[in-house]
Amino acid sequence: MNTTAPTTNDPIEAEALRLLRLLIHVECSTGRKWNIETCREIAPLTLEINQLKKEKNAVILTHSYVEPEVIYGVGDFKGDSYYLADQARQANAEVIVFAGVVFMAETAKILSPDALVVVPDRDSGCSLADSLSGEDVRKLKALYPKAAVVCYINCTADVKAESDVCVTSSNVYDIVAGLPEKQILFVPDRLMADNIRKELINREIDKEIISSDGTCVVHEEFTVEQIEEARKTFPGLKIVAHPECTQEVAAAVDYLGSTSEMMKYVKTTEAPYFLMLTECGLVSRLAIEDPEKNFIGGCRLCPYMKMNSLLKIRDALLEPKPEQIIMLEEDLSKRALGCIERMFELAN
Ligand code: 13P
Ligand code: SF4
Repeated sequence: MNTTAPTTNDPIEAEALRLLRLLIHVECSTGRKWNIETCREIAPLTLEINQLKKEKNAVILTHSYVEPEVIYGVGDFKGDSYYLADQARQANAEVIVFAGVVFMAETAKILSPDALVVVPDRDSGCSLADSLSGEDVRKLKALYPKAAVVCYINCTADVKAESDVCVTSSNVYDIVAGLPEKQILFVPDRLMADNIRKELINREIDKEIISSDGTCVVHEEFTVEQIEEARKTFPGLKIVAHPECTQEVAAAVDYLGSTSEMMKYVKTTEAPYFLMLTECGLVSRLAIEDPEKNFIGGCRLCPYMKMNSLLKIRDALLEPKPEQIIMLEEDLSKRALGCIERMFELAN
């Protein structure tokens, strides 16, 4: 068989072939298949965006849950919340396009205040971030004045401004376990708070975790029944989940971790099948980067992450609309920076 990739002098055709080699392994979330025709349709747009990035000294940060044509077509950095926040902190760019959700872009603006930070779609919220305001945290702090306030990064800038330390799914257990305070006010994820309590018991660490009432609309839906059914049908199946799932689900899976940690686990584990109890974008990334692995269905779509598109990214780069630009008050931004910097300090 001839395995040499076809070559062409036509830049659009060359781009379509580059995209096809990656996207052939996945489907769009709309069910559309990637083939040479559909790759030819988007190739002029990915070329235009990649050219605009050079002209505007811009970088595109892409969370693993966004559509693969965005991640692999135009993304400069791809990964979990911690990695992307770290990239935003180090970015030496005039423009940062954040293809993820708004709280992630706000975090990038806090870490790179001189950059123009834009989001493709201002409505790309997050059920966790939208569950709690800075005012709500102030009220909780008045009730628990001795507690250390720990915010999961999936929260707004004004919640971060009220917090002592920020955490992500990749460092939450170690950071909370190492804090000197016994009482912890953990916001805004109630289910992650349950998982922290359980982990602290496993580590024989005595702390009181108080939480607010947010949940992730994607991860709260996975169930133990789904896990039991899948294990019966697919012997040898390995199941991974995110710590935003319920503690019952967390206890029943083979591996619990951040999106990047879950990817690493699957890539380094031999099993006939995998079930990913997380957003479907992660299954797509693995199908592209590790096509030998088999996944059974069961993942779910995050409606907010899926609002990002190549067209909206092009428009945000070319001439951002006011609502696409992240603006934060200087004082609020400085106060929010404190808890994120503390996370970087403690995570290292
Ligand atoms: P990660 O930091 O693990 O990528 O999680 C972000 C997120 O929104 C999960 O739902
Ligand atoms: Fe928010 Fe859940 Fe979507 Fe992550 S998957 S962005 S936590 S709604």
